[in-house]
Amino acid sequence: MKSLTLVKLGGSVITQKKLSPPTVNEVAINRIAKEIRAHKGPLIVVLGGGAHGHQAAHAYGFGDSSTPPEKLLAGIPSIRHNMTLLSLEVEQALNANGIPSVVIPPFSSVSMHDGVISSFPTDIIKGALKARCTVIIHGDVCLDDIQGASILSGDTISVYLAKALDIQRVFIGTDVDGIFEEDPRVNPNATLVSVIDSSNKDSVLAGTGTSAAIDVTGGMTQKTQELLELANYTTLVAIFNLTAPGRLTSLLEGKSTTCTRIEF
Ligand code: IPE
Repeated sequence: MKSLTLVKLGGSVITQKKLSPPTVNEVAINRIAKEIRAHKGPLIVVLGGGAHGHQAAHAYGFGDSSTPPEKLLAGIPSIRHNMTLLSLEVEQALNANGIPSVVIPPFSSVSMHDGVISSFPTDIIKGALKARCTVIIHGDVCLDDIQGASILSGDTISVYLAKALDIQRVFIGTDVDGIFEEDPRVNPNATLVSVIDSSNKDSVLAGTGTSAAIDVTGGMTQKTQELLELANYTTLVAIFNLTAPGRLTSLLEGKSTTCTRIEF
């Protein structure tokens, strides 16, 4: 497939993370849809959970290993419902901007084994891309033969698809400029790492250990480790600030912008 690109839209950008009940960030979603028009070619858009995923997941004890399976299972409908609402908002915004798009929800086809993907069929994704649809796929709750149910994050989906499909470029949109030497929320003077390669990989991972932000899908170190894995499967990986207008457009157009690139 010609130049397949994957963009992850971080949950903290497309939802109002502090509002309960979960509320989408319509302004951000519409602006992002317009930026995505800069892309010509096949595209997968992966949504993070943000308020829609993490609030319900916390309420039902996901991320806490002592939660009994019955409680996790009871959380399925509300996580699914919220993630469906979020994905439909994005689908509507993309279609309204002339980007034919369909949502493919992981719950319907992905199986998990103790928190790890055991089966993730991708034929339907390939078929939808071939039919010239942009594929929207989102972080979700999935059935798990050990835990009952477990959370599949947008980052894990991105790594899995990069491995399974021939994806050339992966752009991970977050609410910070990229990966910093220290947590920028703790130290506002922290330095942005513009390139991670084999020479600084270990020191960067050590720095992410200072992050205060922990959610049900793990802290910054775990997320960074997962993103570093991406570089094994694609030509270009960039982590960038999706709240800053224009950066996604620049990346899609192959222009340079503020971000962290991962290169091995
Ligand atoms: C979380 O996905 C999915 C759910 C909680 C259902 P992510 O972990 O990728 O979400 P964000 O981008 O950090 O919000």
